[in-house]
Parts: sequence; structure tokens; C-alpha cells
Amino acid sequence: MRRALSVASECVPLVKTGGLADVAGALPGALAVQGWEMRTILPGYPAVMAAAGRGRVAFEEDDLFGGPGRVLTAKLKGLRIFVVDAPHLYDRDGGPYVDAGGYDWADNAERFAALGWAAARIGAGAVGDWAPDVLHAHDWQAGLAPVYMGMMAEAGSRPGTVLTIHNIAFHGLAPAAKLDALRLPRSGFTEAGFEFWGQIGALKAGIVWADRVTTVSPTYAAELMTPEYGWGLDGVLRARDDAFSGILNGIDTEVWDPSRDPEIATYKAPSGKKRAKAMLRKEFDLPETDGPLAVVVSRLSQQKGLDLLLEALPALIDRGGQLVLLGTGDRKLETDWLMAAAHPNVAVTIGYDEALAHRLIAGGDAIVVPSRFEPCGLTQLYALRYGTIPVVALTGGLADTVIHASPMALRAGVATGLQFHPVGTHTLAAALMRLVSLYRDRTSWTRMQRNGMRQEVSWEAAAVEYAALYDRVAPAP
Ligand code: ADP
Ligand code: GLC
Repeated sequence: MRRALSVASECVPLVKTGGLADVAGALPGALAVQGWEMRTILPGYPAVMAAAGRGRVAFEEDDLFGGPGRVLTAKLKGLRIFVVDAPHLYDRDGGPYVDAGGYDWADNAERFAALGWAAARIGAGAVGDWAPDVLHAHDWQAGLAPVYMGMMAEAGSRPGTVLTIHNIAFHGLAPAAKLDALRLPRSGFTEAGFEFWGQIGALKAGIVWADRVTTVSPTYAAELMTPEYGWGLDGVLRARDDAFSGILNGIDTEVWDPSRDPEIATYKAPSGKKRAKAMLRKEFDLPETDGPLAVVVSRLSQQKGLDLLLEALPALIDRGGQLVLLGTGDRKLETDWLMAAAHPNVAVTIGYDEALAHRLIAGGDAIVVPSRFEPCGLTQLYALRYGTIPVVALTGGLADTVIHASPMALRAGVATGLQFHPVGTHTLAAALMRLVSLYRDRTSWTRMQRNGMRQEVSWEAAAVEYAALYDRVAPAP
């Protein structure tokens, strides 16, 4: 088997703040089927150390960006992982990226430089019995890995490098004064290199240095090359368009399987939907109405467009619809949503709760994902499997995973959901009104549910594409 090292700042089931963790957790299993043995390197946050801290020491570093560190190897829950054990960087309370007060750790640049450095050391052969053919870096946190890899080994005798962009909004910027501290060559601090408006840009570094760059849907790949979506990196991506592509994410079809989901009584959607919906109404004390019950499971951030949904909500509620939202994040959005929950047909849970996420996606008639931009999005894919109709913004991965109920798609019997465009309050309101009328057209609705449940959403297709990409960048065996 050929070998790939995945470099990630979060990974299910050890640490998760968003979809990146799901992807990092799923890739090794999916790629194994394609003949690639993938191991994952992660920072030694407390939760990771608690799970893997007794692993074998693979190698040590006297100075890992401000203190001694080691790389441990461990096998847990089906994953083979390397853990960067560096207490001065990771042994602290708070999240992977922010402190308990919600502020970025001041030394994030060093914290993730260390991850990239340790990964490149493995790429250069630091672990005697396991050297990868490909180093696959995710997001800005791993963006410096391809740079370090290039510093440690010559092309041809080093692993091929791939960078996947899960979200361009986070650039991983650091002041130029940190060049030496981050062990970066001054020669790279140019517009053609990792300099970004006077700062060091870790994501930009990855985009420029990696052999290949991918993102998590073809439509987001196209969007990223435009000024509207590129967050200042569109030109850099256009310059690499021959090495840049979109590979659509899959989902874990065992975790998200309506026929054996422990969170709901086994049911065959869509017929079992009725029971799951009744249970959900009971749980949230929602009255019986004749409209659709819509759900949201999301981080509450500007990206996700949930402020737009707040404004558009009357379009659903005034027509007999209901809404249950589960989310956490931005404090103002949390407060605004809690206030909206005063309405008898709106329920809100602020927090992170995987079990509840399952009950919502199973019991909802529809899921709303009104993102301003969405690299891929996973919850609309979960929803499809449960016969829950997605109402999504026509952007990024949401554009690539839902078949809009246009008259032609309905006539052809292929529609799976609703898309609205451009992203705004009025277009979303119109989509919600359409949702209510479609819900009352039982023939079309049931057809859409069945279509959705038949969609191929597993990791298989993506794994085939990643394997082909790895084959292209890996050195000749
Ligand atoms: P992003 O990574 O931008 O947050 P994705 O849709 O790719 O968006 O992934 C989000 C993941 O996090 C999904 O697995 C989703 O179910 C989960 N999630 C988000 N918010 C919550 C929450 N409040 N409770 C439980 N799961 C959540
Ligand atoms: C990011 C994106 C999301 C994507 C996830 C996994 O967090 O915001 O759209 O699904 O990464 O690739």
C-alpha cells in the first residue's frame, strides 16, 4: 500500500469544531479501500493527549517552536495517528484555536507551524519505519507544511504535497516579525511567495507551495477564483488553476443512517418520518400544525446566513410552518435566536449536541442552510439520507449536492430540494413559501424525499478522486 500523511488541526472522534474534523476522520477509511494507507498527524491538545498520550515515541525535537516536543504514534478507534506532544503549545484549557474567552491564542502561528514542521519531518523520514508518499495538508493550520517539506527535501525525493482548502475565510496571518520564529526563509516573503499584504499568510503559503491544491466542491473551486469569494487569494488561485480542483466531500453513511440510528427508533423514511417528527414536536413542546417542520444544525457565524433566516422566518411560520434550530457561536446571533424562540412555533437550543443533531435531521421535514458561502456543507447531505428536504443557498457545495425543484426537474422526477439565489432575505423568504406549498403537494414531496434518499453521498467517489490525485503527485515507486 502507498502511504499518505494527513495533516489536520481537528479530527473526529478526537476533536471537532466543524466539518473539517468529519472529513479528516473519514478520509483514512475511504482511502484504504483505494489502496492508500493514511495516517493523521494532530496537535496534542488535552483531549488528544488523554486518548493517545501513552503512544510510542516516534521521535523528539529539542526545540519545537519555543520548547521541547515529541511526536507520538498511537492507534485508536480505527485510526493510526501521530500526535505532536508539545505542552508549551497545546496543554491548556480552551478550544483548538481560541481561549476560554473566545479569543485566538496569541501564539497560533507557532502552534500550527509546529504541526506543519512535525509533519514535514515525518515526510523527510523522521519515523524510520513509516514514510509517506504524499503529505496532505488541510486548511491554513497545515499551510506551512508544504513549505517546510520543500526546505527539508528535494523534489523527487520527497513526498508529493496536496493542500485542501476547507474555508478560505481563515488565512492564518502572522506578523512579518515572526519570520525567523516560524523558521521561514526571507526569500519566500514576497508577493509570489507567502507574503500577504505585509504579513505572513499560512494558507497562501500552502496554495503556492503545494504540488496540488483542492477544495471541497467543484462550485466552490470556481467561486474561489473570483474576487467575490476569494478573500484576496483569488488571483493566487487563478495563477495555479492547472493544479487546482474541487473534490466533493462525502459523509459517514454509517453514522448517518436512518435505518440504524440509535438516536431515533428504527424507521424507514419517509414513512417513519411521521413518528420521528411527532417525537421532536413533543421534545420541543411544539403544537400540531399542518405545515412543514424545518430544522437548522449549524455553527452560528456570518458565513451561515442565519441572520437572514431570522428575518425571513415569518414566511414559514405565518403559513403553518415551524422551526427548530440547534447552534452555537456568535453571541449576538445566539441572543437574537433565543428571542425568536418566544414564538410558539419556534424552538432554539444553543449548544453543541450530536445526539440532538440526529433527532433534528431525522424528525424535520426540511433543513435550511442559507449560507453566504459554503465550501461544501455536510448537514444537507445528512438530510438527504433521512428524507429531509434541503432548502439551501445556491453556492459552493450546496449548489453541487441539491437538485433544485425547478418545473423541469419536477417533471423529470429528479428534484431533491430547493435552492435560492442571490442569497438574501427576500429570496430565502420566497423559498420558504415555496417549501410550504410543495409540502402540501404530497405527490411531489414524497417523490423528492425518495430521490434524496437515493443520492450517492458516501466517501467512495471522493476517495477515488483523491487516490488519483495522490498517484499524480507521489514520487515514482
Ligand atoms: P462547517 O464545517 O462550516 O461548520 P459543515 O456543514 O461542513 O460546516 O460541518 C458542520 C458539522 O458540525 C456537521 O457535522 C454538523 O452536524 C456539525 N454541527 C454544527 N453545529 C452543531 C451543533 N450545534 N451541534 C451538533 N453538531 C453540530
Ligand atoms: C469547512 C466548510 C464546510 C465544509 C467543511 C468540510 O468548515 O465551512 O462547508 O463542509 O469545511 O470540508
